[in-house]
Amino acid sequence: MINIAILGFGTVGSGVYEVLKKDGGIIAGRVGDEVRIKYIVEIRDFSDHPDAQLFTKDYSAVLTDNSVSVVVEMMGGIEPAYSFTKDAILHGKSVVTSNKALVAEKGAELFALARENGVFYRYEASVGGGIPVIRPIGTCLAANRITRVMGILNGTTNYILTKMIEEGQSFETALADAQKKGYAEADPTADVEGHDTCRKIAILASLIFGKNVDYKKISTEGITGVEPEDVEYAEAMDSSIKLIGMARIGEDKVFARVSPMLIPNDSPLACVKDVFNAVMLTGDNVGDVMLYGSGAGKLPTASAVVSDVIDIARGISENRRLDWEDGDSSYVTPLSETKVTCLIRSKEEIEDATCIDIGIEGEKGYILRNFKESDLEALLKREGVIKCIRM
Ligand code: HSE
Repeated sequence: MINIAILGFGTVGSGVYEVLKKDGGIIAGRVGDEVRIKYIVEIRDFSDHPDAQLFTKDYSAVLTDNSVSVVVEMMGGIEPAYSFTKDAILHGKSVVTSNKALVAEKGAELFALARENGVFYRYEASVGGGIPVIRPIGTCLAANRITRVMGILNGTTNYILTKMIEEGQSFETALADAQKKGYAEADPTADVEGHDTCRKIAILASLIFGKNVDYKKISTEGITGVEPEDVEYAEAMDSSIKLIGMARIGEDKVFARVSPMLIPNDSPLACVKDVFNAVMLTGDNVGDVMLYGSGAGKLPTASAVVSDVIDIARGISENRRLDWEDGDSSYVTPLSETKVTCLIRSKEEIEDATCIDIGIEGEKGYILRNFKESDLEALLKREGVIKCIRM
């Protein structure tokens, strides 16, 4: 018997409960042992729940119960999730999480602590929800030098952009629609300002690079500034605007960025619509691989969480390198040291650029290739220059 405790009975926590209830028999067959929920730690009252006896507010009872081997942290945020995770590890329990904020902020420390204590800290669900991406990087793609990862890592913003592209909606209307459908939070800042994508690309870049890529060093621009005119330019260039988290990974340098980008319509990333997510990985041997699916939601995310539990329960986690070391970030290339290819919308002519006139009064588009980021700021301050969209 593998006893687990779920911390937090929100959307994903209750999804984990549902998956284990519904598919417990199949999972037991795959593990070779029953995976049983022994506790659900939750401060809210669930005395009417059919399994009310599982609920407790007392986390210390979980910590001191030696029969519990895996804690499933579904709380989100940094605290108290961080302290609860450390306590579980220090009590010899593996931890499975979907908490991208905590993995991006404290991952390196928690991996080291888990190693010292002979347990595991696993986070498949923290990036791409139900899409398998963390383990494929560490296992199926292990024969590759992965040089680039780029992805649509946030369902809410992809839904909003899809509405803007396909129905000509404004950002505000599309956001209100996403909120009505329950995709966007009441406070959608983390999604629309790109912070959620930033944590996720930091996790992928750290895993591939092997050292912590500090999310605070990742230049991040969300979609609040995307206008219907940008969508028109994209259409004219046979492209689609997508919020992209990307990282280029070299031998001893890594660069990551989050921004709206013009993606050519013949790229599979352009076909990722609505709330779907996708991660495109480029390996030196495999070439491009795209992983696509539901990036959020109760059962898809629970699917990834339970897969980590199964991995630990089967005892196959130790042969998988799925973590990274801490580091001083000197290897993270600042945006200013890179070059950009982009579309500049401007009322004045931009020299040495390819001009695109799509008939918007008073302005034209100018494509700049391999332009120094360090010169972009000055260019954007020039009179008549409206904005830059990356390609
Ligand atoms: N708010 C996130 C999204 C949820 O919209 O993709 C999954 O991390």
